[in-house]
Amino acid sequence: MKISVIGAGNVGATCAQRVAEKELANEVVLVDIIDGVPQGKGLDMWESAPVEGFDTRIIGTNGYEETKDSSVVIITAGLARKPGMSRDDLRDSNAGIVKGISEQVAKYSPNAKVILVTNPLDVMTYVAFKTTGFKPQNVFGQAGVLDTARYRTFLSMELGISVRDIQAMVLGGHGDDMVPLLSYTTVSGIPITQLVPQERLDEIVDRTRKGGGEIVKYLKTGSAYYAPSAAAVEMAEAVVRDKKRLLPCSAWLTGEFGIKDTYAGVPVILGKDGVEKIVEIELSNNEKAMLNASANSVKENIAQLNI
Ligand code: APR
Repeated sequence: MKISVIGAGNVGATCAQRVAEKELANEVVLVDIIDGVPQGKGLDMWESAPVEGFDTRIIGTNGYEETKDSSVVIITAGLARKPGMSRDDLRDSNAGIVKGISEQVAKYSPNAKVILVTNPLDVMTYVAFKTTGFKPQNVFGQAGVLDTARYRTFLSMELGISVRDIQAMVLGGHGDDMVPLLSYTTVSGIPITQLVPQERLDEIVDRTRKGGGEIVKYLKTGSAYYAPSAAAVEMAEAVVRDKKRLLPCSAWLTGEFGIKDTYAGVPVILGKDGVEKIVEIELSNNEKAMLNASANSVKENIAQLNI
């Protein structure tokens, strides 16, 4: 079992570390274009194995030979946001990068499940889908798990209740118009509206939508990576351990929720066959309208791609 992580920057290196520490694969291959960086980070990580107690081998490289026959490829390569930038501002530069990488993934790992992390997420997932020519269930994006993790964290801070007891889902594109579902947010089954006043909930939803930007403002020279890598690795784990997790992921839609021909964040069942099912849950009219608007903005962005 081999997992490859493309991009050995903040998100990629942290993904590789999490995969190794969880022993999700026998081998993690970390690829980057910068000579020495994946090799150095990979070796450094491997040298933590005796202390952390894992047997996963970590190989750093600038090529794709070593990625051959990966079960899962996590693509994180590309530019990250700086203060004042939206995710969409990264579109054209990152599309070229993701396209080149996807060609190599298709060549060396034709049976891989491909998880996209590079932003703008839903658009980059489309680029990988088109370039690899893989079946749509094999190419999906990490966004909803991260957005939901942020939302659950903010609710936990508000209530002083364990994050484990807060169930929620955030759908839509990975942008400021994402759709946190209040109607499916509960604390151990108790509807959130019984525990948090609407006014505060509105503020928490707004903070969730701008959660990525909040971190960019603090960091100034880059964007978030601890929570994004945790989210991507949770998805990889669902695949390699065939967990059948029900998670919000960016998936190719063919009419589900009344949306087609675009990627957007929806509830899916993730297992060894990738996106094994898209789960069409009931939404309020307002949620439906928000999901549609969010998916339409992804679609418009895809239409402007120049690849
Ligand atoms: N092939 C491989 N690696 C590449 C390529 C390429 N063609 N182009 C760039 N990279 C590498 C860079 O050399 C760098 O090491 O991608 C890495 C990106 O790392 P960071 O700049 O640290 O960015 P990071 O925070 O990891 O974010 C990466 O994930 O969450 C998204 O918005 C974020 O799009 C961004 C991506």
